[in-house]
Amino acid sequence: MAEFQSIHSPERGVLLLDTHGRVTFANIRAAEALGVFVGDLLGSPLPDAIRRHPVTDDEVIDEVIDGKLPGGGVFHRYSTPLYTAEGQVASRVEILSDITARRELEKEISERNIELADLNQQLKDAQEQLIASERLRALGEMAAGVAHDINNVLGIILGNAQLAKRKLDADHPALESIQALELAARDGAETVRRLREIGKPIDPGSYTQIDLNAIVDDVVKAAIPAWREQTEASEVSIKVDTDLSADCIVLGNAVELREALANILLNAVQSMDSGGSIRIRTRRDNFGVELQVTDSGSGMTAETQSRVFDPFFTTRGAEGTGLGMSVVDAIAIRHRGRVTIDSEEGRGTSVTLRLPDVSCTCSD
Ligand SMILES: Nc1ncnc2c1ncn2[C@@H]1O[C@H](COP(=O)(O)OP(=O)(O)OP(=O)(O)O)[C@@H](O)[C@H]1O
Ligand SMILES: [Mg+2]
Repeated sequence: MAEFQSIHSPERGVLLLDTHGRVTFANIRAAEALGVFVGDLLGSPLPDAIRRHPVTDDEVIDEVIDGKLPGGGVFHRYSTPLYTAEGQVASRVEILSDITARRELEKEISERNIELADLNQQLKDAQEQLIASERLRALGEMAAGVAHDINNVLGIILGNAQLAKRKLDADHPALESIQALELAARDGAETVRRLREIGKPIDPGSYTQIDLNAIVDDVVKAAIPAWREQTEASEVSIKVDTDLSADCIVLGNAVELREALANILLNAVQSMDSGGSIRIRTRRDNFGVELQVTDSGSGMTAETQSRVFDPFFTTRGAEGTGLGMSVVDAIAIRHRGRVTIDSEEGRGTSVTLRLPDVSCTCSD
């Protein structure tokens, strides 16, 4: 009687069966795989572990047996009838190949592949961040250069307009034009302020622990009365819902985060000429914190979506400066986060701001 050998011996287990399904020949490897001795197999049907009913005489079995054989391991089983010259089934051969090592290797490769894909994604993210911060830096330099000069000019216009206003009687025909000048100069100053906002360098020294839910509360409280005033006049109704999760704490600058959310909310309101709903949601997962604003407004075309973060891109003509989302993007980048858009024309828009969690130790 053969000795029971190591299950890791490499050769295949081979069994020969007669037409009644009884084993007529078996090698040691087959006995090992089935957890018995060769002598126990001979003259008997196949052990229950691999016997299959009904097996027709001419059936070919090609299957993987995972962990079911008494000897353990993963096997590939190939079972085929053997024919006589007359085409009669004379016997059947069973070949059991141990594929445990191959399976483990495949598993390892697939795990490595996942790791690799993960690393690739991290690399891509880092590259995108780098490109984004480089774009921001270039824009910042430009903004700083022009902002100073434009501000001086605007200051002179504003100062003189105010002086002129004081010198004129209340019913003077030039007063209206001077007031228009003053308003335009103020608008210009606001544009310069936003431009500066985009180009501002990162200042982690000003970052503190901030509860995103408090930011949502503050901005909604400040924004809603203003909309109400507007919408009551135009009889348009905008419903605002919040869905806030606990522990959405980030390291950041509250003023900047409020400005980002206010810009996103304002866009949402402006996309709903005939009213609609806005949902503000905060969520936290293993990777960070998410602030999402979803509106039921006009949505964006693919062209608008691809250009929404370009400074000065606007579809609102003279009413928009096209700086709102650039400011949001800049603030997200300064907070080591990112902002993404999901929008469908005619159906609405979701703007998602993802920021690292306060416990994130990632460095510059
Ligand atoms: N929620 C939204 N729904 C539909 N379109 C949007 C939305 N948010 C942004 N957009 C589109 O993206 C463009 C750029 O937005 P952005 O906030 O940068 O500028 P703006 O709103 O046009 O002007 P500004 O914010 O400077 O007043 C908008 O003109 C609009 O076409
Ligand atoms: Mg805007």
